[in-house]
Amino acid sequence: MNTEITRAGSSLNQEEHQSFHDLFEAYNGHEGDLVPLLQKTQEKYGYLSQEAINEISRFLKISENQIFGVATFYSQFRFNAPGRHSIKVCLGTACHVRGGQVLGEAVGRELDVLPGETTDDKRFDFQRVACLGCCALAPVIQIDSDIHSRMSVIRLKGILEKYE
Ligand code: FES
Repeated sequence: MNTEITRAGSSLNQEEHQSFHDLFEAYNGHEGDLVPLLQKTQEKYGYLSQEAINEISRFLKISENQIFGVATFYSQFRFNAPGRHSIKVCLGTACHVRGGQVLGEAVGRELDVLPGETTDDKRFDFQRVACLGCCALAPVIQIDSDIHSRMSVIRLKGILEKYE
């Protein structure tokens, strides 16, 4: 049975609320638990939802703004549900000088999505990253675990079409 628990700023059913409670059980509720808790939450749900931030705020007794301030400092945290596929465009130095920026803009235009967001149809989430570790193949994009090397805007559309 899904009983709605409605509180100021939060509307979770009993099951969802219990799920957060289980997650928090291993922590003492100290401010120093924040980053490990954010990591655990993202590991469990795939991203940090507004509801998750709200629950963490209540548990640690710190404001949501403080939590966002910390979470946005670390590039590992995401605030949108992941898409079916993840696309990463490399903007590290080697990729940047070979057109990484232009590729990133082309991905955004082609998929109508901004960096850090997920497309409306949940097909792709899109991130810009600093280096994918294969600079000799620049410019590089990664889709899921596939590395696409020496990428060009012309090849981009055909490659994206392979991912439904
Ligand atoms: S700079 Fe792009 S892979 Fe290293």
